[in-house]
Amino acid sequence: MLLEIPEIFTPQQAAEMKAALLQAEWVDGRVTAGHQSAQAKQNRQLPENSPVARECGERILKALPQSGLFMSAALPQRVFPPLFNRYEGGEHFHNHVDNAIRRLPTGGQIRTDLSCTLFLSEPDEYEGGELLIDDTYGAHKVKLPAGSLVLYPSTSLHRVTPVTGGSRICSFFWLQSLVRDDGQRTLLFDLDMSINRLRQELGDHEAIVAQTGVYHNLLRRWSEP
Ligand code: NI
Repeated sequence: MLLEIPEIFTPQQAAEMKAALLQAEWVDGRVTAGHQSAQAKQNRQLPENSPVARECGERILKALPQSGLFMSAALPQRVFPPLFNRYEGGEHFHNHVDNAIRRLPTGGQIRTDLSCTLFLSEPDEYEGGELLIDDTYGAHKVKLPAGSLVLYPSTSLHRVTPVTGGSRICSFFWLQSLVRDDGQRTLLFDLDMSINRLRQELGDHEAIVAQTGVYHNLLRRWSEP
């Protein structure tokens, strides 16, 4: 499932983070690329140990659990510390699939079930730079307002088209979900959204209590804590 999640940050908060990030020292983006994607990648990134990157990363990690939509859709178990990239002057990232396993800077590793891109530049601040994500229904073009995030299965082939004007700053990261299978996770998300709507319309109806039980029993069956 590909899902756009609006307003993880307000436009003002996103602009503050972007301004702080622009002051930092950027390096060649191939530092985090695997062998195959290193050939495809042309952009800049902040080093993982950059103090500004870590500070902004912490802000993102604190903001994510505030979004009910994010928590319901991702069911996160472990989130990789957010990274930051920058595309300018024709830079791009050709088609690739993200690495399946990522080493955490703190030790240990995560399986990448979901990939996230959080936009920090406004769409009118750059030309091109669309994130194109393939799924069974074709390619989806994503270019979101600053502060909004897209969540998509890490199994997806994706690319960033050349940024032909301006500057595109984003955060990107991966997470391991409690529910590994995208189909199962999508069913749980749909059920949760439908229960929420019913609760708003009907209040604490007995049938909703039963449905909530079904949700939790499926989660118990499918989750791998
Ligand atoms: Ni990627």
